[in-house]
Amino acid sequence: MAEYAKEINRRRTFAIISHPDAGKTTLTEKFLLYGGAINLAGSVKGKATARHAVSDWMEIEKERGISVTSSVLQFEYDGYCINILDTPGHQDFSEDTYRTLMAADSAVMVIDASKGVEAQTRKLFKVCAMRHIPIFTFINKMDRDANDTFDLLDEVEKELGIATCPINWPIGSGKGFKGVYDREKDKVITFADTEKGTKEGTSLEISLSDEDTLLENLGQEAKDKLFDELELLDGAGAEFDLEEVRSGNLTPVFFGSALTNFGVEIFLRHFLDMATTPLPRKADIGLIDPVEQDFSAFVFKIQANMNKAHRDRIAFMRICSGKYDAAMEVKHVQGGRVMRLSQPQQIMADERKILSEAYAGDIIGVFDPGIFSIGDTICMPKESFQYEGIPTFAPEHFARVRQVDTMKRKQFVKGINQIAQEGAIQIFQELSTGLEEIIVGVVGVLQFEVLKYRLENEYNVEIKLEQLPYEHIRWIENKEEVDVQRLQGTSDMKKIQDLKGNPLLLFINQWSIGMTLERNEGLKLSEFGRN
Ligand code: G4P
Repeated sequence: MAEYAKEINRRRTFAIISHPDAGKTTLTEKFLLYGGAINLAGSVKGKATARHAVSDWMEIEKERGISVTSSVLQFEYDGYCINILDTPGHQDFSEDTYRTLMAADSAVMVIDASKGVEAQTRKLFKVCAMRHIPIFTFINKMDRDANDTFDLLDEVEKELGIATCPINWPIGSGKGFKGVYDREKDKVITFADTEKGTKEGTSLEISLSDEDTLLENLGQEAKDKLFDELELLDGAGAEFDLEEVRSGNLTPVFFGSALTNFGVEIFLRHFLDMATTPLPRKADIGLIDPVEQDFSAFVFKIQANMNKAHRDRIAFMRICSGKYDAAMEVKHVQGGRVMRLSQPQQIMADERKILSEAYAGDIIGVFDPGIFSIGDTICMPKESFQYEGIPTFAPEHFARVRQVDTMKRKQFVKGINQIAQEGAIQIFQELSTGLEEIIVGVVGVLQFEVLKYRLENEYNVEIKLEQLPYEHIRWIENKEEVDVQRLQGTSDMKKIQDLKGNPLLLFINQWSIGMTLERNEGLKLSEFGRN
């Protein structure tokens, strides 16, 4: 065991979250500059596809046979083995994006300094906060005119509800960007704009007490402003506390510019220092320790039809404990079967590399002949436990779905159920009328297109989608205590149920949710569904 403890302890597995265009791809590319990339899993490619309009994108996905991918990327730096989980944005934002966060031990949040906290960041942050994983903030694009630093921190605190602790402090922005003050070193590090694609440039490090050199490099105005701000900061900012960072209550904040490669390596170094090794994970028999326990993993994503000719599915697993060796037999707990995982791969968008071994913290993809479901546990044959399930995330777009040819009801129901089982869509029914009317909910609107395309191509069923105006869905947490039929909602509220008969409520806006809670004392609503 000790022999692989070292391998596990040098792993760091994190997701990057941001709103599109904040600089996630650029930052990732710079990280790779510092380490030898072992496996580039579509990050660079992701950047290209992300820029395509929906129609182009669909073409690309069609060629690939519909794979709404989030990719994984592995690289080495300073003795660490780092796994970055990419969370796709733009049109391909989907429930998978959220599920990917379930496989990470920490998150890096990239914020555009001129935009502050944006919609997609907010959504992804909520999921990280639910898991209490450490969140590291990189405020990017300081080489462009930025919002006031205190305002930015305030926004993160108020909008996201997490305390902030700036590790460095920016000096100006845009054309007047002079660098950062490193609070730990107690030194100013001057901005050096380096060529794209090269390592960090030669910055000066100037001690705060060296006023002449500071003046020379910053100018009077910037120097005075820095001193004023630092005084305010010492009085106001939260103290750094590693425990608070690790429990997700405090986010260390870094300022930099990914494009000019300023502040990236500093960030990476601090991040690796502060982030945790693969974390123990909750199972029905208690916490499973990554090092003490033999191999175990859980499925967090299923991707269908990467290869159109074979209609295969790939199940993505996060290894939670021990060492995986391709020759060994494992147990699929939910299926009750002992088996060898078929074609274990390091996952990349298009290319796949067959793996012989992997460790806790790593992500592998295996060929799935249709037996795995999201949340399933894989462990050693002699063991039998189940990891805590992955929640169902609130869809934000809803449509009523009908098949055009009523004779094809059977194929329609089969197809839509299979696609739902893969987790690409969620299906609901009217609370009163039952199965005849199917309502589909999706996290990203592109999933409607994917559903239509797949039903036509794989199940030969043409459908009509009628989009509904609802944007919010809530699970009823205390459904045993509530008589759903008698709930008093707003006039725009709709009562539905999922396939297991759990009641849910659809709303057009936040206001209606508030009103409904007000009108029904004791009602508890949740944005996450527990399976
Ligand atoms: P994303 O993955 O979060 O969507 O963002 P991405 O890295 O693709 O960056 C979005 C745009 O912002 C890109 O410009 C990128 O060059 C730019 N950018 C990223 N970091 C910085 C930064 O620190 N400073 C400045 N000034 N710009 C930054 P683009 O014009 O859309 O693409 P490109 O043609 O430059 O590749």
